[in-house]
Amino acid sequence: MILVTGGAGFIGSNFVLDWLAGTDEAVINLDALTYAGNRENLASLENDARHVFVHGSIADGALVASLLKQYQPRAVINFAAESHVDRSIHGPEDFIQTNIVGTFHLLEAVRAYWSGLDEPAKQDFRFLHVSTDEVYGSLSKHAPAFTEEHRYEPNSPYSASKAASDHLVRSYHHTYGLPVLTTNCSNNYGPYHFPEKLIPLMIVNALAGKSLPVYGDGQQIRDWLYVKDHCSAIRRVLQAGRCGEVYNVGGWNEKPNIDIVHTVCQLLDEARPRADGKSYREQIITVTDRPGHDRRYAIDAGKIERELGWKPAETFETGIRKTVNWYLDNQAWVANVQSGSYRDWVEKNYAERAA
Ligand code: NAD
Ligand code: TYD
Repeated sequence: MILVTGGAGFIGSNFVLDWLAGTDEAVINLDALTYAGNRENLASLENDARHVFVHGSIADGALVASLLKQYQPRAVINFAAESHVDRSIHGPEDFIQTNIVGTFHLLEAVRAYWSGLDEPAKQDFRFLHVSTDEVYGSLSKHAPAFTEEHRYEPNSPYSASKAASDHLVRSYHHTYGLPVLTTNCSNNYGPYHFPEKLIPLMIVNALAGKSLPVYGDGQQIRDWLYVKDHCSAIRRVLQAGRCGEVYNVGGWNEKPNIDIVHTVCQLLDEARPRADGKSYREQIITVTDRPGHDRRYAIDAGKIERELGWKPAETFETGIRKTVNWYLDNQAWVANVQSGSYRDWVEKNYAERAA
């Protein structure tokens, strides 16, 4: 079996669902159920004996040690993190605690477990750390996309904390020989994406008749990766990646934010036209920019394609259509995640951004 951390969050829950759709190998899912963790994402696995959910933190070394001892997984895949840049600007401490200190405690527990395995199990074991392209910093408009050799230049408390966790993971390979793999991926989108991030926020706000807040000039560029493509990349790296190596994962889909928002509006205009016949674009407003906002991210996903034969299956056009349709078909999920704490966050992040 495998141990997944953060498997009740956006990418982790997609990963667990896809994993169990493709194999009978069981999953232990350790998740602290922060505001971003949602067991409803895993509702279809409620009576599935292949999925064991454990409510707890990666920072709890004793708990992780006991899970490793009890279940003897052949791999650990670490998704657990604080993941939202804007929240890291408002309050960096949780990012330091989970992404750095938590990853450290997880690594320590895994190292102790791995050291005690017999030789064949030791050879086969993998620790896969899921990271982000944001550790590489910001690119100018015509600079080449990030390769795995790009220097680390994190600019937000979020990306700095992820960079620190990547360094710890690397060091456990070089110092102790722990068989680690690291993936650095671009912006994911798809089902179960918490509506504090750009794409789901725009869909949810549009349908609720609220404004669509674009930071600054909306010309910041991100590379967009459909979440199920990301999950297939992780499975492939786990299966065939070389220990100690880093693999960049991207969708070959660089887009300015404003184009993303227009595409969402256009798809909603087709699928769920506004009662007054106007476009959802009418709801777009420009708001104060994010401090230290990275201008452009772009991933060169050539290494994972050359070495492991992985390529994304979705184009942005097919992936965004699936995503918009998923939100239209899952309005109950959307309503349930908009709790009091979600509303408090929206108030905190947007109230002070002058339109
Ligand atoms: P998310 O915020 O949706 O989910 C994070 C999950 O981790 C939640 O279920 C939360 O409850 C859990 N968690 C938080 N702290 C924990 C702790 N101490 N112990 C155990 N569980 C804990 O994040 P996501 O978007 O699914 O991202 C998953 C991973 O992928 C993160 O490491 C993130 O940095 C990375 N990543 C995300 C993106 C993206 O576009 N979403 C892009 C690149 C990399
Ligand atoms: P986000 O989804 O927060 O991901 P990240 O900051 O990790 O790339 O934001 C994606 C882009 O969208 C980023 O450039 C910030 C921008 N953005 C807005 O313009 N308005 C918003 O309300 C949000 C949440 C993000």
